[in-house]
Amino acid sequence: MQMNNVDLNGLVLKNPVTVASGTFGFGREFSDFYDLSLLGAISVKGLTLKPREGNPVPRLAETPMGMINSVGLQNPGVEAFIRDEIPFLRTFDTKIIANINGNTLEEYVEMAKILDKEDVDSIEVNISCPNVKSGGMAFGTDPLMASKVTSAVRNVTSKHIIVKLSPNVTDIRTIAKAAEVSGANCLSMINTITGMAFDLKTRRPIIANRIGGLSGPAVKPVGVRMVYETASVVGIPIIGMGGIMNAEDAFEYILAGASAIAVGTGNLVNPMCAPQVLEGLKKYLPAEV
Ligand code: DOR
Repeated sequence: MQMNNVDLNGLVLKNPVTVASGTFGFGREFSDFYDLSLLGAISVKGLTLKPREGNPVPRLAETPMGMINSVGLQNPGVEAFIRDEIPFLRTFDTKIIANINGNTLEEYVEMAKILDKEDVDSIEVNISCPNVKSGGMAFGTDPLMASKVTSAVRNVTSKHIIVKLSPNVTDIRTIAKAAEVSGANCLSMINTITGMAFDLKTRRPIIANRIGGLSGPAVKPVGVRMVYETASVVGIPIIGMGGIMNAEDAFEYILAGASAIAVGTGNLVNPMCAPQVLEGLKKYLPAEV
């Protein structure tokens, strides 16, 4: 592991610090705080074929140990991303990762075909969103489906492919291996863990969808364990994420076997989190090996 030129099996990052999909939008708000060229890569908000409004609000709530969301893939759709966001992101010297989501296998394929012709550096196949009724996590909790989606995407694009895995499984090694043999260049993990919290005053769940995805400090040991287990069976690089709030958290993921890391919920708590993680990591990692 090193600070410069991190090669994720064909996607070379200037440093190992990236930002996790869904916690950074398309970077616009964060560009007021720092130069996005500092980042190794930006994984953009999860995209779907058509624009989506997402789930009813409230759909984001803080708990003392983490955040629960049921956003439901609110996004402007892949065409608006291509038209409005890629030109903005390209004003920075960082890699663009397009996170794609489908209700069906065909929708993943359609999006990969569209993005294959566009100026993105990698396609992150999100098979782990816990907040949609069809598709989403259903693909990421079954090795056969994980394999089918990955190879279907692989067949229609020559771009670098990352497969984003779910922590809501008992057999992460089998699922990770299935994605690897089906053509993933890299894995990213973990997405959020399904969770629930109640508001004692109203006696109702704190988010309208009742159940959502838990992220933040509470999930870090789970993410670290899953990266560790996965790294022991796959030969492709892993982007580790889940509760990274500082450089020490990031270094734990690297010790577990991650080649790069992503700051997720940390961005929402502290907009400077990612550059601070980068600065702090310099103490732990050599500039070149
Ligand atoms: O926790 C998550 N929320 N994970 C995803 O993959 C998508 C996101 C959402 O939009 O619901």
